[in-house]
Amino acid sequence: MSVIVDRIAAVVGAAGLVTEAAGMEPYAIDWRKRYAGRPLAVVRPASVREVAGVIKICAETRTAVVPQGGNTGLQGGGITDASGTQILLSTTRMNRVRAIDPVNNTITVEAGCVLAEVQRAAEAAGRLFPLSLGAEGSANIGGNLSTNAGGTGVLRYGNTRDLALGLEVVLADGEVWDGLRGLRKDNTGYDLKHLFIGAEGTLGVITAAVMKLYPMPAARLTGIAAVGSPEDAIRLLEIAQRQSGDALTGFEMFSDFCLSLVVKHFPATRTPLRVRHPQYVLIEISDARSEESARSEIESVLAEAMEAGIVLDAVVAQNLAQVETMWALRENITEAQRHEGQNVKHDVSVPISRIAEFIAATDAEIRRAHPDVRMVTFGHLGDGNLHYNVAGPQEVPPDVFMREAAGLTRIVHDSVARFNGSISAEHGLGQAKREEIRRYKPALELELMRRVKAALDPLGIMNPGKVI
Ligand code: FAD
Ligand code: MLT
Ligand code: ZN
Repeated sequence: MSVIVDRIAAVVGAAGLVTEAAGMEPYAIDWRKRYAGRPLAVVRPASVREVAGVIKICAETRTAVVPQGGNTGLQGGGITDASGTQILLSTTRMNRVRAIDPVNNTITVEAGCVLAEVQRAAEAAGRLFPLSLGAEGSANIGGNLSTNAGGTGVLRYGNTRDLALGLEVVLADGEVWDGLRGLRKDNTGYDLKHLFIGAEGTLGVITAAVMKLYPMPAARLTGIAAVGSPEDAIRLLEIAQRQSGDALTGFEMFSDFCLSLVVKHFPATRTPLRVRHPQYVLIEISDARSEESARSEIESVLAEAMEAGIVLDAVVAQNLAQVETMWALRENITEAQRHEGQNVKHDVSVPISRIAEFIAATDAEIRRAHPDVRMVTFGHLGDGNLHYNVAGPQEVPPDVFMREAAGLTRIVHDSVARFNGSISAEHGLGQAKREEIRRYKPALELELMRRVKAALDPLGIMNPGKVI
């Protein structure tokens, strides 16, 4: 073992250190198997004191640190480089719920808490923690904060940033900033927590957070509506927002091709509608009163949209099992794509009013260049966020098709820029988009980001090669 690793071992003990290749492998490769690193060691501190001790050693020895939570990130942000010199700092052993305050509607959790566990802890206290995403069984709250994750509840509850009230962070020199305040109002200067949220581990290690809770709705009900086009999906959104206001807590769109991938790779899947249609919208209504009230609300939205010829067919879940089946249709798309083979992923946002126009214009441009590709378009329509992915023709081996990736991405991202959109709506930049963002973000914004980085991490040891 190197001298650095020996010193770190003295801080975290044997239980907090992995140095053999086989043990490090799960931490070294990302979920999509696109990025493979080679850490010097995987370090698993059990407390904020241990994280501080590790970072102090890394600062003294100028050793790079790559924080990692559940390793479900899609941009390679939590993966080391292949030099064998970087420490991978996993927060997974720091997984305590430190406090729940149901009156203040807050929960204080350590960074390594799995998102689904935070949801369960809130539920046990009769409260809702509304952050929800397909990877919630593995993703950690520290990773959610560091990527400012979005997910399926954003249109009602906001991104992770909007759910955070306070943070505890180990800074790049090993000092601990205790900002664990549970206040909804605090105008005492710069709101420092927002620097670390969405920083993807480039400014410090988040070790704990105070997160907002909400009253648990009496019922959460879903329906699936078939529509002929993204335009009609947007018209349905307008009706749902007008009729249901804040009770509308989910509005996800996926194409028939996405559904066919889920059916193919999850053979137990039953499609809820008898006849297939071009697009589907999953609507979720959360009601404070009762399931009956949620049902009448969702049925009323669908009835108006059917009368207007917007919705072609629809079904409303009759029980919890059907609610789960409907969500699975949407949430299994990512996994189904992985089984289908590599595809060129894009996580983009444009103003909601321009989404349909964006899809039509970009699809046309892509088809001019690559007539046979298969578009895998789905996403959080209520937030203007599309996962606008491109898969190769079935007969072309995925690795051959992936040679076209850079050209396809250029078409998509240039189109996003023309529509005043973002090339990363919710997944962050990581290593995947670090170069790409230089083409699209104004030079002054990049320069301000560099100044923040230099101020908070002057030695450049925090997750180098990511974001900026
Ligand atoms: P990791 O992958 O471990 O790390 C992500 C980044 O955060 C890295 O840069 C890492 O260095 C940094 N980091 C992690 N922990 C800390 C910490 N404590 N302090 C400082 N930096 C840290 N994302 C969405 O936004 N919406 C979705 O709907 C969504 N759905 C998904 C579905 C599937 C099936 C999968 C595989 C992924 C999905 N994701 C989604 C992406 C991913 O789950 C999120 O980005 C999630 O927030 C990452 O959490 P993690 O704990 O896995 O982080
Ligand atoms: C989703 O919404 O399912 C995720 O962000 C994952 C993906 O983009 O594949
Ligand atoms: Zn998403």
